[in-house]
Amino acid sequence: MSDKKSYREDRLKILLTQEQIEEKITAMGKKISADYAGKELILIGVLRGSTYFLVDLTRKMSIPFAIDFISISTYGEQSDSADVVRITKDLDLSITGKHVLIVEDIVDTGLSLGYLLRNLKTRNPAGLKICTLLNVEARRIVEVPVEYRGFDLPNIFVVGYGLDYKERYRNLQFIAEFDRP
Ligand code: IMP
Ligand code: MG
Repeated sequence: MSDKKSYREDRLKILLTQEQIEEKITAMGKKISADYAGKELILIGVLRGSTYFLVDLTRKMSIPFAIDFISISTYGEQSDSADVVRITKDLDLSITGKHVLIVEDIVDTGLSLGYLLRNLKTRNPAGLKICTLLNVEARRIVEVPVEYRGFDLPNIFVVGYGLDYKERYRNLQFIAEFDRP
């Protein structure tokens, strides 16, 4: 794991290795493929943190699907939570009558997903579910139904595998607890 060297190594504590992440995503891809077989599926990646997970997840899937992206911005005080949410880049595809699976890196307070669910429901999809690699139940403010979850984490701040601290560390192949300065 040489990529750790290029960052402030002393602030990183590895939680999930590349191997653990791949094993989990393989199982998730298999499950999603079985559950959505024969259905018209659209995967919606929430920019930007979920991109690494989304790409790897689709590589483990064996059914047809479409991909689209949505970007939401938050006016939260902190870098890791959302107070007021709005869409900054909307979907390009119509989801009306389609089975939608929102793909997230992490569900933390649930504020951004709560907003997204309400917004996407008004477009009348045939189904609307959430898939997240990481889940932090301890920080939940808004209850959101999470259908597929990779790993449950305690209340810590993590980086790597798409997750950032001030836009850095996304390209780490592992997920690490990050000691914020
Ligand atoms: P929410 O608090 O559930 O609305 O999460 C909002 C977003 O904050 C997530 O989709 C992540 O992009 C980001 N986020 C939450 N927790 C962390 C973390 O521990 N590390 C990096 N980003 C995080
Ligand atoms: Mg996110």
